[in-house]
Amino acid sequence: MTTLEDLIRKEPKTVHGYPIVCAFSHNWERIEQFQWRPDDIVIATYPRSGTTWLSEIVDMIQNDGDIEKCSRTAITEKVPMLELFVPGLRKTGTEALEKMPSPRLIKTHMPVDLIPKDCWKNNCKIIYMARNAKDVAVSYYYFDLMNKLEPYPNSWAEYLEKYITGKVSYGSWFAHVKSWWDKKENYPVLYLFYEDMKKNPKKEIEKMMQFLGKNLDEEVVKKIIHHTSFEKMKNNPLLNFTNISSKMMDHNVSSHMRKGIIGDWKNFFTVAQNEKFDAIYEKEMARTTLKFCTEL
Ligand code: PPS
Repeated sequence: MTTLEDLIRKEPKTVHGYPIVCAFSHNWERIEQFQWRPDDIVIATYPRSGTTWLSEIVDMIQNDGDIEKCSRTAITEKVPMLELFVPGLRKTGTEALEKMPSPRLIKTHMPVDLIPKDCWKNNCKIIYMARNAKDVAVSYYYFDLMNKLEPYPNSWAEYLEKYITGKVSYGSWFAHVKSWWDKKENYPVLYLFYEDMKKNPKKEIEKMMQFLGKNLDEEVVKKIIHHTSFEKMKNNPLLNFTNISSKMMDHNVSSHMRKGIIGDWKNFFTVAQNEKFDAIYEKEMARTTLKFCTEL
């Protein structure tokens, strides 16, 4: 039987052409056989793009801004990750979701191609949040330093090479953000940006409310903004992932919630790395209308 120790610091496994966290790749049929419900709400992101932030906001919207209700349990339980599989954990993502009452909030980092067909058939609402590629790279690097389900990232320079070439879990950032951008043309996908959330959370929360058919007072929206601010979330043990075993995540190395800012990449990219990245970015993003902001 596979144990957690067997999966520590393992390279991703290829699933239908995409590199997936080795632990999660186990028995992928469980994802394909998952029973979707039409009122499921999916929170989809490339890793490190603000998933936890978005998840808490959506849970608050669904619960009319009631903080007590939203403090019922940790975010990892309230919004289970579909593909989660960790030996020794009580439940896999799909098992946790099967037992949840509707409407369920479902987290995933999967690229469009790996989303099971039944999700599209059920026309489930999906909120996708994208974050600029450079800040994601830095955030993902620090995450992989502390998250033992990922291979050890070694130096920043080495990691950046892997990231640019899509050899990290969930594959290429470019392919991910572009394919979800295209998908919104034919499916109920609300496409949001981390940077817009930072600049004007009220406006983005209102977009979410409209998408979810919720009408909340301005005071409630203010309460949601306050409760989901970076500082509040960082110090909230239900939201900052400190509930995860140190066998999996070492919070002494880095926090799950690290800085929460736009433009931190400037502290890490050398001039040469930035020039190389920009050249690749230009090619990869040449045929899309998708535009990102990388600084305030
Ligand atoms: S994960 O593990 O992939 O699901 O991580 P994810 O939640 O997608 O992304 C983590 C980054 O989001 C930042 N974050 C926030 N930024 C601003 N405001 C709030 N409230 C917030 N909550 C989480 C978090 O700090 C990570 O980014 P970095 O740049 O590493 O700080």
